[in-house]
Amino acid sequence: MGKSLNIGVIYGGWSSEREVSIRSGKNVLNALAKREYNARGINITKGNIKSVICNNNFDTVFLLTHGRGGEDGTIQGLFEALDINYTGSDVTSSALCMDKILTKYFFSSLSLPTPPYKIVDTKNALKEKQHFPVVIKPRREGSSVGVSILDDENDLRKYMKSYGNLSTEFLLEQYIEGREFTCGIIGTGDRAIALPVLEIRPKNKFYDYEAKYTKGMTEFIVPARIPDSLSSEIKELSLSAYRSAGCRDFGRADSIVSTEGEILLLEINTLPGMTDLSDLPMEAKAAGISYEELVEKILLSSLKRI
Ligand SMILES: Nc1ncnc2c1ncn2[C@@H]1O[C@H](COP(=O)(O)OP(=O)(O)O)[C@@H](O)[C@H]1O
Ligand SMILES: [Mg+2]
Repeated sequence: MGKSLNIGVIYGGWSSEREVSIRSGKNVLNALAKREYNARGINITKGNIKSVICNNNFDTVFLLTHGRGGEDGTIQGLFEALDINYTGSDVTSSALCMDKILTKYFFSSLSLPTPPYKIVDTKNALKEKQHFPVVIKPRREGSSVGVSILDDENDLRKYMKSYGNLSTEFLLEQYIEGREFTCGIIGTGDRAIALPVLEIRPKNKFYDYEAKYTKGMTEFIVPARIPDSLSSEIKELSLSAYRSAGCRDFGRADSIVSTEGEILLLEINTLPGMTDLSDLPMEAKAAGISYEELVEKILLSSLKRI
């Protein structure tokens, strides 16, 4: 199905994750070509987006744009308006999951467990009493940009001086000591399935930008070496969050299991990295799903909407 469609693989974009997106795009393009789909890659920029989308007459697009503009509902809205089918979550789910504050409201309203939090702006952060240590996060960034662990008021003051301009609002989350996991999901609604859970063990104090993008700075263990019952609980919680947020085709939910054994959701990524070395493809591989098969599954899941 879909072999005769004119498929655009859209990557690049203008967020800080542009380079990863290009790698994801090239890998996906390669996989689609191997499976004999009629796919063409488009490296989009703010300068060429209008012309390339209008000139190519795509029947459907495979979106691999990460971060701001590409994962937050913006580009999804463009394809909605043009009536072009696209892979991945729609405008609302993408915008919800990209916004760390809205995500907290969403988790809380459904009683999905997540670390306790507080919302501050640059003005009130230093006036109010905080319970350190906390993890501070700008409202709408990704890739751990601007994420930092603060041990005391002095750290908070220094942070605001250096990063206060990243956002008008910040999330202050209770720092959770524990182990970090991520669970990939493929499919939509009742058909969505969870892939084997992956443990992320960064060499740094947390999974920061350096640990994410420097080879050797993080150890990935998949399937995670944890009891089956814990792995099932992580999968169930991740699936529940993904389905409730209305996510589609593929995604990844990140969580921390505290030293007390409580699973706490951190976030849902609606457009996770798709390089052959990214988390989701690694998890698929552990489930016996090759990279090419994974790419095809995501595409076919999206084509059900045509
Ligand atoms: N409450 C927390 N306690 C401990 N570590 C955290 C907490 N929140 C985030 N982290 C660490 O920071 C990283 C990035 O946070 P996350 O909320 O996933 O933001 P991003 O969207 O930038 O990935 C996580 O992968 C984890 O290592
Ligand atoms: Mg994250």
